[in-house]
Amino acid sequence: MYRRKFAKETQNMNIIITDDYEQMSARAAEIAVRIVTENPNAVLGLATGTTPLGLYKRLIADRAQNGTDYSAVRTVNLDEYMGLPKTHEQSYAYFMRKNLFDALGIAPENTNIEDGTATDEQAECARYDATLEKLPRDFQLLGLGSNGHIAFNEPNTPFGSTTHVVTLADSTVKDNSRLFSQISEVPRKAFTMGLKSIMQAKKILVLASGANKADAVFGMVRGEVTESLPASVLQLHPDCTLIVDKAAASKL
Ligand code: F6R
Repeated sequence: MYRRKFAKETQNMNIIITDDYEQMSARAAEIAVRIVTENPNAVLGLATGTTPLGLYKRLIADRAQNGTDYSAVRTVNLDEYMGLPKTHEQSYAYFMRKNLFDALGIAPENTNIEDGTATDEQAECARYDATLEKLPRDFQLLGLGSNGHIAFNEPNTPFGSTTHVVTLADSTVKDNSRLFSQISEVPRKAFTMGLKSIMQAKKILVLASGANKADAVFGMVRGEVTESLPASVLQLHPDCTLIVDKAAASKL
């Protein structure tokens, strides 16, 4: 495992390259546990998807072993599929409860996510923006889409965006179809936190693993800062760490 600082291309991004997914997850867990230990009232911005599962397993194991206390932590999630109630197994609300919140003892009232069943889209986006405003994040965890998206901010989303409704890119629907029994079941629309809101977090941690993320990682770290690769905006964040395994770092 080694660290790199890309002085010219990314003045602020701290990059940690690990041998594999497990090492990436372990390193991420150290960072997350430290944040909660130092500030038991921390507001954590969290992500779903396959990438953070190893980190989440480690947080659960750490709590069992060391008793790290999450009872005063509040969470805000990035995104939610439209049309899925929080009881639906593919909803992100369900994912978080099953893979993290229940096991860490985080009460439902301390968690926040967009309501996939909201019928007034604009009102739901405004409600979520107000929630984000009330809960400034100490930490924001991000996965990375193979097309460079963060949250569900697909290519060409304005950097100034706040919570909004998106039509998912075909590549995202295809990437995410592995978690559904058929591709036709993947919702085409979602609520997502916007790029401006993501950038407001005090500290950002991006995780990326696997060769299918290598182009997006390259663009995020070395490419120009452009709305056509949403993750490139993170080059402008003053405290952003990327933990990436060798396969995902292969084009750096
Ligand atoms: C999830 C999210 C997405 C994922 C990204 C990577 O809440 O906002 O941006 O982080 O699509 O997904 P995985 O980790 O499944 O490769």
